[in-house]
Amino acid sequence: MITFYDFYNNEVKLSFKNHPFSKHPKHVWVICRYNDSWLLTKHKDRGLEFPGGKVEDGETPEQAAVREVMEETGGVVEQLHYIGQYAVDGKGGSIIKNVYFTTINELITKEHYLETEGPVCLEHIPSTVKQDPCFSFMMKDDVLSYSLEYIRTAQLL
Ligand code: GTP
Repeated sequence: MITFYDFYNNEVKLSFKNHPFSKHPKHVWVICRYNDSWLLTKHKDRGLEFPGGKVEDGETPEQAAVREVMEETGGVVEQLHYIGQYAVDGKGGSIIKNVYFTTINELITKEHYLETEGPVCLEHIPSTVKQDPCFSFMMKDDVLSYSLEYIRTAQLL
């Protein structure tokens, strides 16, 4: 398990083991590839981030991940790889999030992308991501770098 602090100075615990913090996490985050690029969404308030969100009642985390990628990017998820899980201890309590990786082959153009402006493809995630105001706070802690390293090491790319 790795411990660090996020953009808001909340403590984050990250692990690449099988659901170390909860078997039923209420949040998901999906690192997406599309056409040899990273596929993100532009949240109207937070900025660029990988798609994700809350698990709804009656949904599994995997179903939530598939739904969120479609809602926020139009991406059709075919195969979802569980990567790990993290827990953030914030002022309003703690949240637990599953991290997944997927390669999207089909992107459907939609009229609305909920609270986002839809898909954004980036060939590279800039090394300045932590300082760049275009990016969401979710992209600004070490969950991103450790997860990308895991994806490369596991040869999922
Ligand atoms: P809504 O209920 O949808 O309005 O969102 P919310 O931000 O009020 O609630 P949510 O349960 O999504 O998140 C609560 C807090 O947890 C956020 O304000 C963040 O501080 C923190 N948080 C949520 N997701 C992440 C994440 O992916 N990374 C980090 N570091 N913190 C997160």
